[in-house]
Amino acid sequence: MTDDRKPILAPSLLAFDHADLGTAAAEVESEGREWLHVDVMDGHFVPNLTFGPQTVMDLRSKCGLFLDVHLMLANPSSHAEAFVKAGANLVSAHVETGVSIGETLAAIRKLDCQAGIALNPDTPAEEVRSYLGEVDLVLVMTVEPGFGGQSFRKDMVEKINVLHRWREIGRHDFRLEVDGGVNFDNAKLCREAGADVFVAGTAYRKLDVDGRAAFARGLGSS
Ligand code: DX5
Ligand code: ZN
Repeated sequence: MTDDRKPILAPSLLAFDHADLGTAAAEVESEGREWLHVDVMDGHFVPNLTFGPQTVMDLRSKCGLFLDVHLMLANPSSHAEAFVKAGANLVSAHVETGVSIGETLAAIRKLDCQAGIALNPDTPAEEVRSYLGEVDLVLVMTVEPGFGGQSFRKDMVEKINVLHRWREIGRHDFRLEVDGGVNFDNAKLCREAGADVFVAGTAYRKLDVDGRAAFARGLGSS
């Protein structure tokens, strides 16, 4: 693992106007960000509903952002390919969805897309350990998935650090992403613990353009 991997601030589409997603993506891109986090929820794995492959396809045609698609689906294996074909750059699926997760990750990578594995706050880091050599990103949820605007769980910082240390010990090459309640202050703690991708919805949206730039700069990101 490289310590020189550039940190990324990834605004979350969830926090923007869902009736005007193209404008949201254009704003994120024009303000200098490189990634856009896209939360896909099915009403089963999580109680909320959001976006589908068509949303990703339309975003793809409107922006050059790296589309970081977070599948909160009970059955990611049935849908991952559709998101890849729609133009996602990275697709993450949750380890809690069961034994077929390894096949899902392999299927995503076979389509020349990056693959990530996500874990909920109450899922121990050990649950993803056997997949660390097969992923491009590990997504650590720092709130219960499903809704934006929740408070960051500080007890997740240790989990981030454990995964970072395993990355170093195993000489793995995945990115380590934090998602949920991330703001300028706790993002710094996550950075110190080893995270290098910072998803921010509510906190990001509340800032003006200068505040967003300062948030990114503070992390060493664009
Ligand atoms: C929550 C989602 C997050 C969400 C974060 O289930 O996975 O990506 O957009 O939003 P904030 O930053 O408001 O917690
Ligand atoms: Zn997310």
